[in-house]
Amino acid sequence: MYWDKALETLSPADLRDLQLQRLRETLRRAANSPFYRERLEEAGLSADNLKTLDDLRRLPFTTKDDLRSRGKEMLTRPLSDMVRLHASSGTTGQATVIYYTRRDIEAWADLLARSMYMTGLRPGDVFQNMMGYGLFTGGLGFHYGAERLGALTIPAGAGNSKRQVQLMQQFATTALHIIPSYALYLLNTFADLGVDPKGLSLKIAFVGAEPHTEDMRRRIEAAYGVKAYNSYGLSEMNGPGVAFECPEQNGMHVWEDAYLLEVIDPMTLEPAPPGKAGELVFTNLTREGMPLLRYRTRDLASFSDEPCPCGRTHRRISRIQGRTDDMIIIKGVNVFPMQIEKVLMALPEVHTNYLVELTRENFNDQMHVKVEVQQDFFREDLKYLTGLRKRITEALKSELLVTPLVELVEPNTLPAGEGKAVRILDKR
Ligand code: COA
Ligand code: AMP
Ligand code: ZN
Repeated sequence: MYWDKALETLSPADLRDLQLQRLRETLRRAANSPFYRERLEEAGLSADNLKTLDDLRRLPFTTKDDLRSRGKEMLTRPLSDMVRLHASSGTTGQATVIYYTRRDIEAWADLLARSMYMTGLRPGDVFQNMMGYGLFTGGLGFHYGAERLGALTIPAGAGNSKRQVQLMQQFATTALHIIPSYALYLLNTFADLGVDPKGLSLKIAFVGAEPHTEDMRRRIEAAYGVKAYNSYGLSEMNGPGVAFECPEQNGMHVWEDAYLLEVIDPMTLEPAPPGKAGELVFTNLTREGMPLLRYRTRDLASFSDEPCPCGRTHRRISRIQGRTDDMIIIKGVNVFPMQIEKVLMALPEVHTNYLVELTRENFNDQMHVKVEVQQDFFREDLKYLTGLRKRITEALKSELLVTPLVELVEPNTLPAGEGKAVRILDKR
């Protein structure tokens, strides 16, 4: 029932000891990176004078902006020691990039193997990974984890709905990794094909990458005849495998041997007590190539240190309850309003205003973008406007990795946006 019983059931005191020891090792490694050497020196903190886990609080947080502007200075070793990178969407300079050494990839795979094993996945299972491969961490992250566990792994990737169903039938898939809204949307394809998902061999679904409710989980479970487990992670902390639900389905265990968890009040930046929602902050405890210290995730959740009936001692976090920034997630893809603004404002044809509406029809996310076009370009020529619409669509898709529905409108017909937030209407 445990992948690594000793680690998963360490007593809380022993777990803290292990964290302290690993935190010292991490500080030692981090001091080899120009960025953290500077930060540690400024804070007067070192592996040698760190006495308790709380001492880490003397160090400032690491933010996404730090990663964007100084990410490469966070490497503790030469780039030639790195064997993989993953990156968020966004053009050069805006994207956040994480580099992994071979050992980092192995350690990450092991965390995912541990996570999936916890829910009952075993060698002999057939695992269909329906997340985006490529630069997304959900694809290759789970892939390596499932292979490490010994499951037969189908790298299905995202999209191609009919083919997904056929793969499940042909190879008697027993476990899925799928974005929760897509799991419900895919039921249309099952219906079109006249296939009942409950009649297949499915037992388990790993769902994550976007916020979802208990109600959505229950619907997925009922429709597919599976147990669905919430999976949380973020690229900056490797990817998935940071926190994962156990068979109790009551909060996600944060793998505290690998990640030091802090939950802070986002306003005061002081620690939040158990049960109170705050922003998750993580420190890598085992990462070799690019350990991040006190990374502010912007994700809101609460934690519980109550013992879990499953026997694992690692503390649990609640579902993600929101964000402390303006990031939105569409079809499992993260989008910052600033990215939309930058793409549109770089086009000479575009006038000052635009409006983005996010809808979810039948569990399918759509991004509608209304764009004001300069009067000069707003000709009666339909061919020209169709071409312009296509160009704007492609420019947005290439930056965001999701395809928007673009509508061109005359200048000064949209409300003048005051700030980015009011230009985004999330109607989901
Ligand atoms: N996951 C997987 N497939 C999805 C999806 C989702 N969340 N949302 C839609 N799709 C399917 C559509 O049903 C469609 O299927 P079809 O090929 O049978 O027609 C196909 O993907 C393309 O849909 P479309 O709406 O045209 O896509 P897009 O261009 O806006 O976005 C995706 C393309 C879906 C491939 C892209 O959004 C993606 O890769 N999403 C997954 C992201 C991910 O893995 N995140 C995890 C991060 S760890
Ligand atoms: P990425 O870096 O692309 O993997 O995206 C990570 C972000 O996706 C996180 O910071 C969360 O905002 C969101 N996310 C990932 N998993 C979950 C989950 N299980 N529930 C809610 N949000 C999630
Ligand atoms: Zn548990």
